[in-house]
Amino acid sequence: MKAQIIDGKKLAADTRAEIARGVVELKESKGVTPGLAVILVGDNPASVSYVTAKEKACREAGMLSREIRLPATISEDELIAEIEKLNADPLIHGILVQLPLPKGFSEKRVIDSIAAEKDVDGFTPVNVGKMLIGDDCFLPCTPHGIIKLIEVTRMDLSGKHAVVIGRSNIVGKPVAALLSRKSVNATVTMCHTGTKDISAFTRTADVVVVAAGRPNTLTGDMLKEGAVVIDVGVNRVPDANHPKGYRLCGDADFDSCAEIASAITPVPGGVGPMTITMLLWNTLESARKAV
Ligand code: GUN
Repeated sequence: MKAQIIDGKKLAADTRAEIARGVVELKESKGVTPGLAVILVGDNPASVSYVTAKEKACREAGMLSREIRLPATISEDELIAEIEKLNADPLIHGILVQLPLPKGFSEKRVIDSIAAEKDVDGFTPVNVGKMLIGDDCFLPCTPHGIIKLIEVTRMDLSGKHAVVIGRSNIVGKPVAALLSRKSVNATVTMCHTGTKDISAFTRTADVVVVAAGRPNTLTGDMLKEGAVVIDVGVNRVPDANHPKGYRLCGDADFDSCAEIASAITPVPGGVGPMTITMLLWNTLESARKAV
């Protein structure tokens, strides 16, 4: 293996230490503790583990964590009523509704009900629109974390070719928008399930961000020598040798990609820790703006 492993855990730890210092400073100077409300509807096992990690990170950074667990039987109107209470709560600076919501909920209507100034996920139409036109806003956490991880490699992306595989609202679309901003200046290609031959694009890519939700979407033979690979996938694959009965893998075949790439994020320990970190970052920012 020749690729540098981009250590998301270390970058996250360093950034969280900086955030924790910011929290202390805000408490001391203004008497304000940043507060994050995390709403989980239902009991999807992956979502339970994500929100538990978010809440723990929030407490560790010295923030207030409001943990709201609701049964999947709650109505959409009741859920929106909970969000509206949080919109009006001065102790809460950030509101996160873990996605996906159980079947039957309109994610669009639920997300729309979050006040834009507390939308620390950056998912509301107001924040998405502001991001696209380059206005001050909360950047979505995973795409923002991805930009920070690419910065670790010190690769100058100006004029380079970046390929994003996946077009989700949470990752693919916003990461493509951030990579094409003047500050990064990459030429971006977005591949998706309608793309006929993804490898025709990845073979000329200097950076590949893979967020397809499917193991082995990217393999070493699809890469240009020296490319940077950012793997956003978190897939549970059955593994009888593992105590939990499964192991986590990304969307890239790590071993073959690491032979060709100059740098790659591991799964776990790459993008995941940075997503949570940028959530804390946005929550601190929101609390600073509120005073
Ligand atoms: N589900 C998967 N990723 C995310 C995320 O970043 N935020 C929320 N709210 N739900 C998610």
